[in-house]
Amino acid sequence: MLTRVPRIAPSEITPPEVYFSRRTLLAGALASMASASLPAVEGAPPAQSALGYRRNPQYSVSEPPNRLEDIAGYNNFYEFGTDKESPSRYAHTLRTRPWSVTVQGEAEVRGSFNLEDLLKGQALEERIYRFRCVEAWSLVVPWVGFPLSDLLARFKPTSNAKYVEFTTLYDPAQMPGQRSGVLNWPYVEGLRIDEAMHPLTLMVVGLYGRVLPNQDGAPLRLIVPWKYGFKSIKSIVQIRFSARQPNTAWNVAAPQEYGFYANVNPQVDHPRWSQASERRIGAPFLAARQPTLPFNGYAAQVASLYQGMDLRRYF
Ligand code: MTE
Repeated sequence: MLTRVPRIAPSEITPPEVYFSRRTLLAGALASMASASLPAVEGAPPAQSALGYRRNPQYSVSEPPNRLEDIAGYNNFYEFGTDKESPSRYAHTLRTRPWSVTVQGEAEVRGSFNLEDLLKGQALEERIYRFRCVEAWSLVVPWVGFPLSDLLARFKPTSNAKYVEFTTLYDPAQMPGQRSGVLNWPYVEGLRIDEAMHPLTLMVVGLYGRVLPNQDGAPLRLIVPWKYGFKSIKSIVQIRFSARQPNTAWNVAAPQEYGFYANVNPQVDHPRWSQASERRIGAPFLAARQPTLPFNGYAAQVASLYQGMDLRRYF
């Protein structure tokens, strides 16, 4: 299963100012754009443009990544259906340009911001992270993005901001799965502010050196590597800073099965299955099952965030 990340020829790489740019770039600092709804993007780049980034070995695991083919057609994105193949089949209806993100709540800088402006000047990094789904399968993926903390700091959260809530686009015309009642739409996730500001928490715009495919949550998604995959919300259109713990989509749908914290914990089983081991997607059948690690192997970096908490109760 495990091979090298596909190489991209330098000639294929689109410079950052082009792949997320509009024909007319808006001048001015992010702060000055608060409350401004900015005009539409024209000339959207091809979905699979190569990205410019630098590798960040400090935050990468040494395990070799999956092959892109292992994961390209195996997704959870209920907005396009509940099985693993539907997102890659149907997510082409998602329009990722123009894209804007609304920032609300306990922050000094609020408003609606175009994706290009949010990404302007942002250095992209590649980080190879383990990713573990609550359904007991796992992947190793080279994500391309930047620390969420860099973005959140630009909005100047107030001292009342104890949590951050993220919301996915709601548009049943583009996301046909939203016509079903499987979840209470739109999909919402949340983090405690210290979890959101942790250097491992990544705002992701690409994988395998390229712009995110729609099925992986284009154009902007979260990756929180020490938590079950459902915390890693896709296609984000809203960020809200709040004093109270947000109601999240899975916690509302089945509170006894999906807690707010959702830290990967082999000692706390899902009520319907064990979390003690996981199946590595793409691995040969006999080698595929491996023990699950506390915090998905990131305990040294994040366990201190939960000191004194009973993680059986706050599962
Ligand atoms: N985000 C949205 N908006 N809708 C979803 O259904 N599924 C979550 C998470 N983010 C989901 C979502 C779950 S359960 C998992 S395991 C991961 O996305 C899967 O990410 P991947 O398809 O890129 O592997």
